[in-house]
Amino acid sequence: MRFHSLLLWPLAARAVNIISSNDDGWAEVNIRALFESLGDAGHSVVVSAPAENQSGTGSRQKTPAALTEPCEFDSCPTGSPAVGFNASEPRLGYVNSYPVTSIKHGIESRAPEFFDGPPDLAVTGPNVGNNIGLAVYFSGTAGAATYAAHAAGIPAIAFSGATGSQTSWNTSRPHYSDVYAELATNLTNQVVAAGKPYLPQDIWLNVNFGSVSDSECTDPEDFSFVLSRIHVAVPLITPDDVTTCGSSRLPSEIEVSLASGCHASVSVGVASSKNDANATMQGVVLKKLSNFLTCLS
Ligand SMILES: *[C@@H]1O[C@H](CO)[C@@H](O)[C@H](O)[C@H]1NC(C)=O
Ligand SMILES: *[C@@H]1O[C@H](CO)[C@@H](O)[C@H](O)[C@H]1NC(C)=O
Ligand SMILES: *[C@@H]1O[C@H](CO)[C@@H](O)[C@H](O)[C@H]1NC(C)=O
Ligand SMILES: *[C@@H]1O[C@H](CO)[C@@H](O)[C@H](O)[C@H]1NC(C)=O
Ligand SMILES: *[C@@H]1O[C@H](CO)[C@@H](O)[C@H](O)[C@H]1NC(C)=O
Repeated sequence: MRFHSLLLWPLAARAVNIISSNDDGWAEVNIRALFESLGDAGHSVVVSAPAENQSGTGSRQKTPAALTEPCEFDSCPTGSPAVGFNASEPRLGYVNSYPVTSIKHGIESRAPEFFDGPPDLAVTGPNVGNNIGLAVYFSGTAGAATYAAHAAGIPAIAFSGATGSQTSWNTSRPHYSDVYAELATNLTNQVVAAGKPYLPQDIWLNVNFGSVSDSECTDPEDFSFVLSRIHVAVPLITPDDVTTCGSSRLPSEIEVSLASGCHASVSVGVASSKNDANATMQGVVLKKLSNFLTCLS
């Protein structure tokens, strides 16, 4: 059994204010599962995510517009205002625009209604489907996280999960969605427990969870977290990564996703470029998460 130093921390000491977004839409079940899971862990969470599926819209922005069709899964009617929220749970908000515009609106306009200051942390996803390697350039889930880390100066973590398809918030919740929410909450708690600054300036984490099935990788406890790099290294050109697990080359996200076993890859990225951070920055994260990360065996 793994030792969780977290469990020794008083809950209040690690409860933070979190802004949450995604690109699959505010009514997609994964973002709702994470909202509940982070809330159960004591955090104060505000969701500000697209009204519609905005998968693959990267870092695009546009002024939100009134709805000319229903929000996804009929989560709001045609003619609804450009931005809105759930009347019975106002922390759940939509923005009829792209993921970056959604999280920007959340940080600037929604967060001040609930928090004493700017959000402590931004989380995006869990994205439906992995965002590995070059996909980070196109993913709106990565776009929203990198906007938060770069433009808004808020430490940000993007989560993505291999299993599932876009599913409405009000159908019976798929098991994988709960597993990804719990894994994302665990990592978030670990980042918070390691203290401020939660991440260096302009750094974000890209976290990809492997498949969940009925027979394999069924429970959160089955998963181990592995430090990785986003992009495949070019021999003789890409500088060394931080030295860990006996090597100065981290496995790429694609390598981790192809390895046997149940893994979550954790990559350290530069938000302004969506490229890998250097060994120094990787080392900061490695140190923070040292009792959480394992070697790819
Ligand atoms: C969401 O948008 C993406 C990109 O356009 C598309 O591939 C996907 O099928 C859409 N999802 C649904 C449920 O329509
Ligand atoms: C709004 O929140 C209520 C209470 O949590 C929930 O029953 C309902 O399904 C939610 N609707 C949407 C669109 O989020
Ligand atoms: C989910 O909520 C929408 C909007 O209220 C409703 O049209 C739909 O029937 C609900 N789906 C289920 C499975 O309850
Ligand atoms: C996540 O936390 C739960 C509850 O603290 C624990 O049971 C589980 O093993 C943790 N998972 C990982 C991967 O650390
Ligand atoms: C590593 O990157 C950070 C910012 O991303 C930069 O400030 C630092 O100078 C870099 N260190 C080295 C050794 O290149």
